[in-house]
Amino acid sequence: MDREQAWVILNEYTRNPALVRHGQCVEASMRHYALLLGGDEEQWAIAGLLHDFDYERWPDPADHTKQGARILREQGCDEEIITAICSHVPWNEDKFPRDTSIRKALFAVDELSGFIYACALVRPQQMEGLTAKSVTKKIKQKSFAAAVSRADIVRGAELLELPLAEHITNCIAAINKIAADVDLVSSP
Ligand SMILES: [Fe+2]
Ligand SMILES: [Fe+2]
Repeated sequence: MDREQAWVILNEYTRNPALVRHGQCVEASMRHYALLLGGDEEQWAIAGLLHDFDYERWPDPADHTKQGARILREQGCDEEIITAICSHVPWNEDKFPRDTSIRKALFAVDELSGFIYACALVRPQQMEGLTAKSVTKKIKQKSFAAAVSRADIVRGAELLELPLAEHITNCIAAINKIAADVDLVSSP
């Protein structure tokens, strides 16, 4: 499976544009970490892009990632990608532990990429000039994007053995590269 096929699958199963953009942001962060950590960029990118592709149709914990894995297997997707996707949800931790760099990275960038997206959305300049410092401030503000697990963001940085600020900086840099694709640029 290549990126183009993955993109078609994501859009086939996901109607909500915000969820498609979430996939794109996580993909961008995965590419960034593949380059930093010596992973296979295309593989990591597809894992990021598709990690939630089954969520809209099957949001139930019993199904999310399970249905996706079944579909991806039918499409001949790489097991490395499928198992990484399975590892991003808490209920799969026993079966798919986050013990490889692709799994660690996917878990680490998932919530944080969503959070950075939320931070950019409320700024007039959107992604432009967004700093790790201001994202950190928002993390401490419990009422902001309350659905995003702060504990998971912290745990992600720990998994990657990076200071949180550095991890945030990395994901900001990654999402900056695709800001226009996910409509996170300020209107003139
Ligand atoms: Fe998910
Ligand atoms: Fe996600």
